[in-house]
Amino acid sequence: MRAIITGHSRGLGAAICAALLEQGATVLALSRKGNVTLAARHGERLRQIPIDLADASQLLALTTTEDWHAFLGGSAPAFLVNNAGDLGPVAAIGRQRGSEIGHAIAVNVTAALILSDAFVAATDAASDRRLLHISSGAARSAYAGWSVYCASKAALDHHARAVQRDQVPGLRAASVAPGVIDTDMQTLVRSSTADDFPAIDRFRALHRDGQLQAPSDTARRLVDYLLSPSFGAQATADLRDL
Ligand SMILES: NC(=O)c1ccc[n+]([C@@H]2O[C@H](COP(=O)([O-])OP(=O)(O)OC[C@H]3O[C@@H](n4cnc5c(N)ncnc54)[C@H](OP(=O)(O)O)[C@@H]3O)[C@@H](O)[C@H]2O)c1
Repeated sequence: MRAIITGHSRGLGAAICAALLEQGATVLALSRKGNVTLAARHGERLRQIPIDLADASQLLALTTTEDWHAFLGGSAPAFLVNNAGDLGPVAAIGRQRGSEIGHAIAVNVTAALILSDAFVAATDAASDRRLLHISSGAARSAYAGWSVYCASKAALDHHARAVQRDQVPGLRAASVAPGVIDTDMQTLVRSSTADDFPAIDRFRALHRDGQLQAPSDTARRLVDYLLSPSFGAQATADLRDL
């Protein structure tokens, strides 16, 4: 089994990458920085490519290489996990910088859609191919101050719904909200102001009360779902309900 994952250098992505490797997958991992710990533990089964997902030209270059097609060719099951994410500007509309909007949409949406298309194009021969977007509760509940992040995650949800309608042979797709996890992104969330992000007290309380999910537990459950026969039965799901 082969898997591609974005954002494996830390946080949830590092934990998903570890869980996939522990399940015996060969993994191609894409982040700006590498993951020294996983490389030391898993050697050649982890291949890391440094890439800035905000730069579509780097993605287009990667997905037209012989390496990309060699990794994804053949009949073995193939998986793509679009995990990398950017919180984007935390502020009400009218106070968001255009450059931050562009960057967040490029990482959260454009990169995920380009990789998904290139993944499907290269896996015609795969007996089983699965596409997992890491979504968020913010795709389904609107939060003041998070309009860009909410819109980007809702885009992934709707992409998965429309991809299911494409009925591509052997392809399953799902966009899954993972819950609230103890990562750098949550540290960033808690550093907002109540003025920019009125719901901040809820997230500070989750941290204070020890309610944040561990990345390793979340990743194990996500990978169990990704590999399960029921994966993709619904285009969108919340890990807390599975
Ligand atoms: N944490 C939560 O509570 C929570 C809740 C719901 C959904 N999520 C979603 O879960 C996913 C993982 O979040 P996380 O909390 O683990 O975030 P994180 O700790 O901030 O890690 C983000 C990962 O994305 C990669 N990344 C970001 N920008 C990139 C870029 N321009 N190019 C390449 N890689 C990039 C980072 O790698 P480099 O910096 O090395 O490039 C890093 O590995 C995200 O999609 C997030 O929206 C998180």
